[in-house]
Amino acid sequence: MSKLTLDRILHTQGFGTRKWCRELIATDEISINGEIINDTNTPIETDGLELTVDNQLWIFREHVYIALNKPANFECSRKPSHHPGVMTILPDQFTRRDVQPVGRLDHDTTGLLLMSDDGAFIHTQSSPKHHVPKIYVAATHDPVTTELIELLLNGVKLNDEPAPLAAEICRMIDQHHLEIVLEQGKYHQVKRMLAAAGNHCTALNRSQIGNLKLAELNLAAGEWCYLSEAQLAQLKPASH
Ligand code: URA
Repeated sequence: MSKLTLDRILHTQGFGTRKWCRELIATDEISINGEIINDTNTPIETDGLELTVDNQLWIFREHVYIALNKPANFECSRKPSHHPGVMTILPDQFTRRDVQPVGRLDHDTTGLLLMSDDGAFIHTQSSPKHHVPKIYVAATHDPVTTELIELLLNGVKLNDEPAPLAAEICRMIDQHHLEIVLEQGKYHQVKRMLAAAGNHCTALNRSQIGNLKLAELNLAAGEWCYLSEAQLAQLKPASH
C-alpha cells in the first residue's frame, strides 16, 4: 500500500516532468473512475489504481515487466547508431520511466526480449550466476553435423574469453537449424561459438528464456505485452 499525489503518480508512470503532469491535471486530462481529478495535494492509493489519461486507460504499475517479440533491424543499445532503438517500438512513457532491455540481442537477432524498469529484476535476469537459460534457434550456413554439436557442447575457445564456452544443451532441428541453450550472454555469443566451431550463423531467434516461451505469448514481430505474475514466475532461475 502506498499513497502518492496525482502529479507524482503520473510522473512515476512516465507521463513527463512533475510540472508537465500538473499541467495535464489542470487541463482536465486525468480521471479516476469517470471523475476528473484536479487535486494535486491529496495522496491517492496507488495499489490497483486505474487512471484515464487523455481518454486512455492506464493501470498504475510500480514497475513494468514487458516481453517484446523483437523484429530484425532494431538495436538494443541506449544510443543506437545504425538502426532504430527497440525503445521506439514501445510507448514513450516507457522511455521516460527508464525501461531498458534486459541484456541485448544483436540488431539482426529476432525473438524474445524482456524489458523492465526494475533494476533488481534486470540484474537477476542478466547475471550468469543466476543460471537463467536462454534458448536460441540458429540457422546455419553449412549443414549441422554431430561433430558441430559435440564441439558446442564440449566448449569452444573464443577470443578474449579465458576459458572455453559451452552450450548447456544443443540439438539439431533440421539440416540447417539447431537449438542452442546458453546460460551466459556474452557479446555475439551464439554467432561466435558457431564460427569457432567452423560453421556460420545466418539467422538467430531467441525462442525462450527460463520456462517462458515466445510461442505461448502469441506476439507477432514488433508486438509486446506486460508479463503476468505467472509468466514472471516462469523466468525464475533454476535452483543449482
Ligand atoms: N548470441 C548472439 O550471437 N547474438 C545475439 O543476439 C544473442 C546471442
